[in-house]
Amino acid sequence: MKLWGGRFTKETNQLVHNFNASISFDQKFYHQDIEGSIAHVKMLAKQGLLTAEDRDAIVEGLLGIRADLESGALVITSEHEDIHSFVEAVLTERVGEAGKRLHTGRSRNDQVALDMKLYTRDEISELDQLVNGLLKELLKLMEEHLDTYMPGFTHLQKAQPITLSHHLGAYFEMFYRDLTRLHDIRKRMNYCPLGSGALAGTTYPLDREYTAELLGFDGPTLNSMDSVADRDYLIELLSALSTVAMHLSRFCEEIIIWNTNEYRFVEIDDSYSTGSSIMPQKKNPDIAELIRGKTGRVYGALIALLTTMKGTPLAYNKDMQEDKELTFDAIDTVKGCLALFTGMISSMTFRRDVMEKSAKNGFTNATDAADYLVNKGVAFRDAHGVVGQLVLFCIEKGIALDDMTLEEYKAISPVFEEDIYEAISLKTCVEKRMTIGAPGQEAMKKVIGIYKKRLDLE
Ligand code: ARG
Repeated sequence: MKLWGGRFTKETNQLVHNFNASISFDQKFYHQDIEGSIAHVKMLAKQGLLTAEDRDAIVEGLLGIRADLESGALVITSEHEDIHSFVEAVLTERVGEAGKRLHTGRSRNDQVALDMKLYTRDEISELDQLVNGLLKELLKLMEEHLDTYMPGFTHLQKAQPITLSHHLGAYFEMFYRDLTRLHDIRKRMNYCPLGSGALAGTTYPLDREYTAELLGFDGPTLNSMDSVADRDYLIELLSALSTVAMHLSRFCEEIIIWNTNEYRFVEIDDSYSTGSSIMPQKKNPDIAELIRGKTGRVYGALIALLTTMKGTPLAYNKDMQEDKELTFDAIDTVKGCLALFTGMISSMTFRRDVMEKSAKNGFTNATDAADYLVNKGVAFRDAHGVVGQLVLFCIEKGIALDDMTLEEYKAISPVFEEDIYEAISLKTCVEKRMTIGAPGQEAMKKVIGIYKKRLDLE
């Protein structure tokens, strides 16, 4: 059934109907569409624009439709153009005349703007939960690995020793920023477009504050044209989701590297790995690779919507229907990635011994050896040169700085004493870095305390 047949003398071409229709995807927010309609009729009745009997018949009808859709007793069919037409048609079939009054003082333009906002708001809550879950898992691992030493890298070359806790803390920062971005978006978008009509408001005395309140908004939107034409909040969300995907992807890239036979810093659990159809020895990090790979489609959604919106004059244009599939896909993709990623890291084995050995063998304590000389009065530039010679010596012998004898040290510089070993031990190198933000345990414990408060864990 069409909502707009009156003006037309010919049937719609079937291909046109198919091309124009959005029901195959906007049925995803049937729940929110019904929620919005219920608030709308409550407001209409309050304003004397609908009788109490009609209101009750409509509300009951809508709740019945929702229950039947949920149980599967009612099935959404493709002869309807969109979810709004479907709900109104079934309602009218079920409750008769009253159903035809539902759309008083409303356009599908403000209706779809509302539905999409309600849907987005609900999804932001779910994303919020998932990011929170990941942050909690990271925090747990950070507490467990305060003294798991590992090399820190620049240029993917071993640089200075850090701890796994500190490394994971960098990701905590990233995902926490993501969380606050989601909160910002929710706050900025939380104004109700219902009552904006097609573009210019309506002539009915609607109480827009009331519908806004019923639906949990901070108030009504203040310009009816912008209300039906605004998709900024979706662009903001897709941008925030792209950043989440980028963070997950960077982390996955590291896990893939750490999981190689060459590194062996971690072992992804069997339950999160896959095998090869031909090579029996293989255990592949497919999940980490897929999460990394899916980043592309999330970025794609952002660019697609930005491009769709750039040429649309005010107010509503059908172009905007294109916002849905790509937003739904990006949200579902990121939700899936967050859940799988959290499961993967919580079941993963971190090999403390391998990480520590790698930090020892990569001259990550060379800077500290130079600092040792500086503390004994040597100029830093000279100290740098001396340690360069030590490193060269070790490379030739295939040993670490810690393995050199004191005689060997002294042969290169007489300044070295027995206390050099203590000064360049991994523990010392890390623990001496105790300014806030650094990997030393005391600094890390303070930061973890701050993170716990942020997540309301203390
Ligand atoms: N399916 C449409 C959309 O998603 C609903 C709004 C239709 N409005 C209109 N004037 N054709 O944007």
